Amino acid sequence: MLQIRGLDVYYGAIQALDQVNINVAEGEIVAIIGSNGAGKSTLLRTISGMIRPRQGAIEFKGEDITKVPAHEIVQRGIAQSPEGRRIFTNMTVHENLQLGAYIRKDAQIESDLEAVLDRFPRLRERFKQNSGTMSGGEQQMLAIGRALMTRPKLLLLDEPSLGLAPLLVAEIFRIVLDLNADGVTVLIVEQNANRALEIAHRAYVLETGKIVLEGTGQELRNDPKVKAAYLGG
Ligand SMILES: Nc1ncnc2c1ncn2[C@@H]1O[C@H](COP(=O)(O)OP(=O)(O)O)[C@@H](O)[C@H]1O
Ligand SMILES: [Mg+2]
Repeated sequence: MLQIRGLDVYYGAIQALDQVNINVAEGEIVAIIGSNGAGKSTLLRTISGMIRPRQGAIEFKGEDITKVPAHEIVQRGIAQSPEGRRIFTNMTVHENLQLGAYIRKDAQIESDLEAVLDRFPRLRERFKQNSGTMSGGEQQMLAIGRALMTRPKLLLLDEPSLGLAPLLVAEIFRIVLDLNADGVTVLIVEQNANRALEIAHRAYVLETGKIVLEGTGQELRNDPKVKAAYLGG
């Protein structure tokens, strides 16, 4: 579904991604693990068309999207739930979810909204609440819900568990599994390597802009280098 070949991304003179190759097949959960500053967010922002690579190509469903504008990439079926959630904190839950559907003109927006509220009962409870007053976990659910309102085929999740209490982390990962079971392909980046590798079919390790390891979630969880560097020994 997604094929990334030889991706080089720079911020001015600083190289953030170096010859990155990644594949995501339809129906998979693929995880990218890596420490702070490894280039995980840069990778997702490049896929979404918010950053342009200096080299390399990104194909989605057999089409080159390397130079496609960000709004059109959303229309083609890629949605991102950004790091730090980036919801509109001065707007209600309802308004944030409506913004997720702004690119759509079809008749299923209301039924998709109901489906998102079914999936996230906390958002239904807080439908008219100003989203800035919600907890971190609820804001994370809203960010994912907003991404779902674009009807994505591929969902990009940037550190959805960051800063959340353990119970909420478990809930977020369960939701990711549910979404995947309902047919959404997922590319998730996480510093929480243990959890991410648990749910991932396949995973890649990103270190200072380079992919240094890849394998099934299980293989990487058993890899001595991964254990030492990312799973707390
Ligand atoms: N807007 C930016 N301008 C300059 N450098 C950036 C910018 N965003 C990220 N970087 C640098 O690119 C590298 C990768 O960052 P990032 O993709 O945010 O890593 P991660 O998400 O894995 O923590 C880091 O060295 C970071 O300092
Ligand atoms: Mg990041």
